[in-house]
Amino acid sequence: MNSHVTHAVIPVAGFGTRMLPLSKSVPKELLPLGNRPAIHYVVEEAIAAGIKHIVLVGHAQKSAIENYFDVNAELDNQLRAKGKDELADSLNWLPDDVSVSMIRQGKPLGLGHAVLKARPIVGDNPFAVLLPDVVLNPFTTNMSTDNLAFMMKEFEQSQHSQILVSAVADEDVHKYGIAKLKQAEQLQRIANTDNSNASFAVDGFVEKPSLEQAPSNLAVVGRYVFAPEIFDYLAKTEPSVGGEIQLTDAIDALISTQGVDVTTMLGDSFDAGDMTSYMQAFIYFAQQQLSQK
Ligand code: G1P
Repeated sequence: MNSHVTHAVIPVAGFGTRMLPLSKSVPKELLPLGNRPAIHYVVEEAIAAGIKHIVLVGHAQKSAIENYFDVNAELDNQLRAKGKDELADSLNWLPDDVSVSMIRQGKPLGLGHAVLKARPIVGDNPFAVLLPDVVLNPFTTNMSTDNLAFMMKEFEQSQHSQILVSAVADEDVHKYGIAKLKQAEQLQRIANTDNSNASFAVDGFVEKPSLEQAPSNLAVVGRYVFAPEIFDYLAKTEPSVGGEIQLTDAIDALISTQGVDVTTMLGDSFDAGDMTSYMQAFIYFAQQQLSQK
């Protein structure tokens, strides 16, 4: 095992039913946020943090995502023949030392199942998971030091898996995995970590609890760094909430045998998988980009 995190798994197999009709024939991950598809920012975030191998877990209708990260030779030739070299270069922005591969999930059995599908490529290495519905704000966050980059560094030092969390409003706790930790510790730590990421031990997680059952208001944001042993637990995880194999259940099992920490999120994030927040995010990204022109 290598303690350096160089792989990132991005599950892209969801149908995006909350984004219909936009997502009927275009994968929701390719819907625009300003002038780029949403997944562009997620892959940029991973690369800025130091990831070299991106593994997309998708299905047959998602091959347009893989194409987005490949060179379109015909388009490239045509642009260069017309003297538009700068535009052609801007489309080939993926660094030479970064690879993007895609495997298929087969059956839609849940997030945990999708992550397990990446095992043949990730092997016995630690890895990151980025859920592409969640887009961290690239205009206010330094992606080469904060959040995922911080979690990767923290893992390399402690060998503790890291789960990014952020406080959410009471009416939203039922949409997320919610962290269980000692109340006093939680309040004290959060109060002290407003301007930097901080990482501390977690007791467990509850997937999509009601407000009454929620152990805190700290929600799993959709960025994870895992020790490779998570695959062993995923392989044993039975379907639970929503009839799906939940990543949260495998994390709970991992916590019983090795250290797992939550990392508090710095900056803000957007939910690009929900129509209302997607439209708000689109306007924000477009305004930022128009003001930079
Ligand atoms: C998934 C995870 C959940 C997490 C959420 C973040 O849920 O299961 O723990 O809080 O992503 O967006 P999903 O939104 O896929 O239902």
